[in-house]
Formats: sequence, structure tokens, C-alpha cells
Amino acid sequence: MDVDAIVKKMTLEEKARAVEGVGFWWTQEYPELEVPAIQVSDGPHGVRKMYFKIPGEPDMATITAVCFPAACATACSFDPELMEDMGHTLGKECQAEDVGVLLGPAVNIKRSPLCGRNFEYVSEDPYVAGKMSAALIRGVQAEGVGTSIKHFAANSQEFERMYCSAEVDERTLREIYLPAFETAIKESNPWTVMCSYNKINGVYSSENPWLLNQVLREEWGYDGLVMSDWGAVANRIAGIAAGLDLEMPGSNGVNVESICKAVQDGTLSEEALDKAVTNVLRLVDRFVSSRQEEKFVREVDHAKAVEVERESIVLLKNENKVLPLSGEEKVALVGGFAERPRYQGGGSSHIESFRVVSALSLAERYGTFTYNRGFSEAEDVYDETLQQEALEAARDADKIVVFAGLPEVFESEGYDREHMQLPACQNRMIDQLIETGKPVIVVLHNGSPVELPWADRVAGIVEAYLGGEGVGEAVMDVLYGRVNPSGKLAESFPIKLSDNPSFLNFPGSEHKVNYAEGIFVGYRYYDTKQMDVRFPFGYGLSYTDFRYSNLRVSRESFTAEEGVTVSVDVTNIGDRAGKEVVQLYVADRTGSTRRPVHELKGFCKLALEPGETKAAQFVLDKRAFAWYDVEQGDWYAANGAYTIEVGSSSRDIQYTVEVRIIGSKDKPPVIDMDVQLGELLASPYTREYTLERMKKYMDHFRPTTSESEEMMEAVVRFMPLHSLRSFMYITNEELEEICEDLKKHVEEQMK
Ligand code: BGC
Repeated sequence: MDVDAIVKKMTLEEKARAVEGVGFWWTQEYPELEVPAIQVSDGPHGVRKMYFKIPGEPDMATITAVCFPAACATACSFDPELMEDMGHTLGKECQAEDVGVLLGPAVNIKRSPLCGRNFEYVSEDPYVAGKMSAALIRGVQAEGVGTSIKHFAANSQEFERMYCSAEVDERTLREIYLPAFETAIKESNPWTVMCSYNKINGVYSSENPWLLNQVLREEWGYDGLVMSDWGAVANRIAGIAAGLDLEMPGSNGVNVESICKAVQDGTLSEEALDKAVTNVLRLVDRFVSSRQEEKFVREVDHAKAVEVERESIVLLKNENKVLPLSGEEKVALVGGFAERPRYQGGGSSHIESFRVVSALSLAERYGTFTYNRGFSEAEDVYDETLQQEALEAARDADKIVVFAGLPEVFESEGYDREHMQLPACQNRMIDQLIETGKPVIVVLHNGSPVELPWADRVAGIVEAYLGGEGVGEAVMDVLYGRVNPSGKLAESFPIKLSDNPSFLNFPGSEHKVNYAEGIFVGYRYYDTKQMDVRFPFGYGLSYTDFRYSNLRVSRESFTAEEGVTVSVDVTNIGDRAGKEVVQLYVADRTGSTRRPVHELKGFCKLALEPGETKAAQFVLDKRAFAWYDVEQGDWYAANGAYTIEVGSSSRDIQYTVEVRIIGSKDKPPVIDMDVQLGELLASPYTREYTLERMKKYMDHFRPTTSESEEMMEAVVRFMPLHSLRSFMYITNEELEEICEDLKKHVEEQMK
């Protein structure tokens, strides 16, 4: 398709029409220009393609497809290869169904456990979210199908999601809320990006030139298409100028008229419109030219969905090796989720699932069991009869497995949760089961952390998250040891909601939500604050044990540009094969700014046979050490010491090694009348000069009483230049002269 030639041929009206969707899921077609329409479809964990029941009539239906585990689960696999593989499968399904863009992955950061859409999002950590979604995108797009990474950006809640303004400082945006997008864009170049509904610092994402043109396109070099979230456009003209190419699902022609008018009266440049049209046509061309024959064999893909969940389940507690079950013992299965698992969330990602497998439907294959519903999985209603029946059966069993979780209505796109608790009827059931004295194992089906008041009193906890249509089989495989669990939490489980750093500022008021905790999100907060959590970030058990040894670095001091390679050996010291997610955190010891106590900068999943040893390798570049310095408008890795930590969770660091960055430009202090003496004395750019230049005035400032020199120095540290008029008998003229001289001195050295 000669896109440029087509754009030249198009009338203004045709162009204005090309930049909005039609029929909810399609782009416009122009048969006379040989431009076909392409269809987009949700996403992210299955193909939710919609079609017209009767062509020409408005009624739509959804195809039956395979529901893969949601991102809350797949994130725990910490396995980019698995994500890529799942991407291939999804891409092939899209080809088979003639879907040109799969609307995902969704990478918004899990700021609060209450966000209704956390189940669709990857992590509280931008590094994990970036790497896992980059892999998924690679897989889908290798099949000649586009993706739409969403929701760009700072859409970490559902409350007033289409209106409220996320008030976030730039450093926090750059370090926490943007990097998952940045990584995926730089590593996997998604064909499209979907902007979010909300405003950022007062400006809608759909018309934010800083976000769409400056950061995304100019700084990150993105050359694909930006589409709106469905109905996210407020001012279409401002949107086109800001870099929003395609309005979805469209405006029913309303904006076609306003675009034409704006171009005619000069409010919108035709060049900006042409850019948007070009991006739309390029997208169409991309898909059309990569069409391939595919079959969608649901049975085969269903097996893949089971496999992905097996790799994602997290074993959170296993006291006295209560798991795996042997198959010999009498097991009491309790809880409605055993029969009707909760395996996906509500809203746009909801799949018409092909085959939902419950644990109960397979239980016979695994051992002797009884089943009692105990409580309803659909609502929080206490039912005495159900509970008593379950208790009776449980008293007679060797072990009890409770299938607990959040009812469907508790978490969905469109609204947030109101609290972090499980339904009271479930907690009550679990408490009573514990009282039987039999070991209790709880399997959880939830899209986001829940409070676990009984965690210390049960023997086992298995986190299945929303594990896709094959969840029942994967859970039974883990319970009975056919699969050795290897998932790790991609988010922290706080003990209670009020421990969460966003607690006082979620979901905001007066149509604003203040991200006041800044960069201290998730473990960055809990670990820095040394706060107890129920389960830390990166945590997960295995049926085998691993030993770490021999941590080594390629060099101990290096420039930020050179970076460093780190490796550590991991040995499976148990008697069954298993997988370990090795994590690398970096702790900044330079004191160049306020930072979290450590941040994840690498992970690596190793499969190990009993007795086997493998090395986990990490390559750390400048970004692994840097923070975003708003003053310099760039990433900055200060000279000095950093600790590299390697371990199996953010709270289980096995080895550390100290390294040094050298050769970075030190930051000179900003020189004006407010600069403090301490800053001048601390900086190599100004220290000697200040001492020399200020000597005679400092002499006026001698300790008169019992203060030591040391105390005086400490006090002087926080005196700005302007205050020296009062303390050091300096005239205003002299001070201004010193200030000017210091500026020149710094400028000369910076050359
Ligand atoms: C959601 C998007 C989704 C779109 C299309 C919106 O409401 O926020 O994630 O892709 O609808 O269904």
C-alpha cells in the first residue's frame, strides 16, 4: 500500500473520517482507494472478538475463545519466554479470526490493592511490567498481528477513571508509571498504544502533547499509532494536535465535521491530520500485508492455558510440608470455587470461554475426596447448613483444602474494591475448619491481594489468582505435586489495607488523585519503611530448595555507560526438579537523592534438576543504577557506591556485593542567593573555592561558647548565602559578587 500517495488522494472529509473507528471495532474502509477495514479486539488474555449477529443489524455477539490466565497470574511466572509463547498463540488466534490488533497488554502500575482492574495489570514494579509485556508483544506481533499497550498512562484506579486527574510529579511518572511502556516500546515496538481515560496533572491523556508527542514519540522514538481508549476523547482537535491518531470507537461522525471545520479555519494544521491518517493507514497496511492462514484449534490452546497457569501459581505457605498431597490421604474439598472457579475478571477483557475446568471435575483422578460447597462463591451470605455439612465432612478427613476467593462482583473494570477483605462468610468457614484441628490448605482465586487474617493458623496457602479457564487442572497439579510450583508474587501482600502507601490518597477527591507517596510504591515503600507485610514482593515457595553461591561481578568499578555483568550460581538441593526465580535488586548508597532502599533491576527463571547448578546472569546498564533527575531532564547515576543484592524475594536477599560508579558528571549545586553553605562545601565544583573565598567571613563566625568546630560546621551547613548578611557581617554587594563569582567558577569547570 503506498500510504503517502493514498493520503494525497484523500479529500479532507475522507481524512477526517479515517481517524475515527466505525462499528465499535473497525477502522474505516475506502474501497475506491483500495483501503480495507481492519478489526481490533480485546484482550489482553484472550480474543474477545465481536461480530454482528445478523449483518446490517446492530446486535453483536462474542466468539468463543480460550481464556488464558489474567496478567495478575501470568506476571507471577516471571518467565518472559512463556509470555512470548502465549503471545504467539494469541497472535495465531487473531490471524485465524481476522483480528488485526489485540487490545493489550495492560501495564498500569498496581498502586493500591483496591484498583478494580488490578487483575488485568502486571505488577507494582515497572521493571517486571515492562519485561513481561515486552515479551507478550513480541510473541503476538511475530504472528503479524498488532498489540495495543494500554492505558497510557497513570490509570491506576477505576474511580472516576474517565474524568479524574492523576496528580503525579515528573520524577514519579518517569520512574514508576511510564517505564513499563517505555521498555515495551523500545524492546518490542507495539503497533499501537492506547491512551488512558484520565487526566495527568490536569490534561487528558487523549490530548496531552507532553505525553504523546514529546515523551512517546520524540524521546522514545515511537513510530506506531496512538488510539484512544473507548470514549476517552474530550477535545478531538486538541487530541490530533497532541498526537492522538485514532479515536475509538468513534464519534458517529460528530468529530468528522469538527475536524474539517478546524482545518478550514486554521485551528488545526492539515499536516497534523495527515500524520494521524498516515499512522492509521500504515497500521492497516501492516496487518493486511502480514495476513496468514491460521487455524484456531481451541483444544490445543486450552492446553496451553493450563500450562501457563501451572507456571504462574504461587505457593505462599507450606508448613510442615503439608503439600504436596500424596493421593493416599482423605481430602475434604470445601468452597464453591472448587466447583465454579473464578478464573477471569469482569469488563472488556471478559472472554466467552471455551472450556472451564474446575478442580472438582478432575478430583477423582488425583485421590480420595469429599466435596462440600460450604459457602457460596457468588456472594457474601452465611449459610448455616452449607457450613455444617462442610464441617462434618472435614472432621472426617486427613486434610482440608478450601477454595476461597473474591466473588465476581467484588472486582471488575469500571469500579474499585471498597475493602481488601474476603467475604466474611469465607473467613468464618476457614476459622471453623481450622478449629477441627485438621491441616487446612487455602487455595485463593482473586485478582489482587486480600487480607488473610487466618494466615498464621492454616498449614498451606496456594495463590491461583484469576488463572484462566484451565485453572482447576493447574491447581490440582500443584496440590498433588504433579507440578512443582514456581511462581513468585509480582506484588506485595500488605497485612491490611491501611498499610498500603496510597491509603490516604486513594481514590482521591474533587476529581483529583494525589500520588503523594511518589516513587514509594509497593515494596519500594514497605521495604524502605521496614514494615511487616503478609507476603513480600518476589516471594513464592517450591517443593524443593535452592542454594545460592558464588556471586560475582565483571568489575567492581565502572562508568555508568560501561555497566557491569553479574552472575550467581543456584543449586537445586532438594530431591525434585524445580524452578527458581532469581532476583537482582540495586541499592543506591551514593546519597545523591532520596531513593527506595532497593529496586528490582533483573530477574531470571532457572529450571533445575535435583543436584543441578546453573548460573543466573544479569547485565546492568546505566538505567539499572540511575534515577530521573528532573533538573537535568535526564537519567542520572551518581558516582559512588551501590550494593547489588541477589535473592529469592525482596525480603530474602542471599548475597550482596558492593560496586562503584565512576566518571559520571557530578551535579553542581544551583548557585543563587539561596544556596546553602553545606551544598557549596559538599560539591567538588565549589568546595575549595568557597573555603578560600569565604575564609575571612568565616573567621567572624567562630564558636564563642562550648560548641565544637564540628558542631559549628553542622550548623553552618543549612545557612543559605542570603542569611550570611546577618551572621557573617557581609554586605549585600559583597554577597552578590561572591554569588556571581561562584556561578562563573562552576560554569568554567563544567566546560
Ligand atoms: C477499556 C479498554 C478496552 C476498551 C475496548 C475500555 O473501556 O478501558 O481496556 O480495550 O474498552 O473494549
